[in-house]
Amino acid sequence: MTLAQSTSPLAPIGVSAALQAALDKSFQTKPKIFDEFALTDRVGIVSGGNRGLGLEMALTLCEAGARAIYCFDLPTRPSEEWQKTREFVERMGNGSRLEYVSVDVRNQKEVWAKGRDIGDKEKRMDVCVAAAGILKAHTDCLEYPAEQFEEVMDVNTNGVLYTAQAAGRQMVRFGNRGSIILIASMSGSITNRDHAWVSYNTSKSAVLQMARSMACELGKKNIRVNSLSPGHIYTSMTAAYLDKQPHLLDKWSDLNPMGRIGRTDEIRGVIAWLASDASSFCTGSDIIVSGGHHSW
Ligand SMILES: NC(=O)c1ccc[n+]([C@@H]2O[C@H](COP(=O)([O-])OP(=O)(O)OC[C@H]3O[C@@H](n4cnc5c(N)ncnc54)[C@H](O)[C@@H]3O)[C@@H](O)[C@H]2O)c1
Repeated sequence: MTLAQSTSPLAPIGVSAALQAALDKSFQTKPKIFDEFALTDRVGIVSGGNRGLGLEMALTLCEAGARAIYCFDLPTRPSEEWQKTREFVERMGNGSRLEYVSVDVRNQKEVWAKGRDIGDKEKRMDVCVAAAGILKAHTDCLEYPAEQFEEVMDVNTNGVLYTAQAAGRQMVRFGNRGSIILIASMSGSITNRDHAWVSYNTSKSAVLQMARSMACELGKKNIRVNSLSPGHIYTSMTAAYLDKQPHLLDKWSDLNPMGRIGRTDEIRGVIAWLASDASSFCTGSDIIVSGGHHSW
């Protein structure tokens, strides 16, 4: 049996490279593992990129060498935190650009149009991270008002689909392969103890199945689709609970074997891996980064 050769421009890599080097003493041996994570010249969209996990992931993609990362978010002007991050990217000097686009992910037509504008300008699309999301105050599941339920589903589920479509359509248009990462949550596969979050949990569960469904449709087009499910991480979303009810920090920390909640920078590695060729055979998977919350 002959296995397909790696199509990576870095090929040969791994043991193939070692075997070639054994035959050819002039073969240049050098570590390539970190090169496999490089996003050199790639273009991407990160929704919810104005702050929190979205901004952290957008910066990671820039650090990995992306040509331009477009942050989609609601405010007409980006936050101070975003502007400082853009300055940081400029000062890194690797040619990467952090861009801001004001758009509501619930508006399919507008999100598609913004994706098309990026395609027109950059002539490629490689990465999409759909991270825009909302979480509401506790609401009894038997009393849950339709309007609020619809709002959460509209942002967390529909908006994730529209963002993935906007990027995926450009990936198909330019025929380059792509990686789409849908930000779900551990709340898509467990229920957060003592929290009445039926809309959030339902919306995130839908995202898990969306990633699998899209992965199956888009595999032949060389577009990979995975979901990333973080556990408890301190951001504005969780601050709405943690800052008002400080006892929750100990409670949430005790719910995982590591005994603490996560930091936003702790998803840098996984997003760099999922966005890049380092994860070229990974699609239709849910990657859980939760300090082991599911493990007991
Ligand atoms: N922080 C956590 O513990 C945690 C855990 C699991 C999953 N997540 C998920 O990670 C993602 C990012 O969350 P975060 O913790 O950084 O929260 P966050 O509130 O800091 O960021 C969410 C971002 O989404 C944007 N957004 C909301 N509605 C939008 C809309 N209609 N159109 C465009 N942008 C919109 C917000 O403006 C904000 O910038 C969310 O999908 C969230 O559900 C977070």
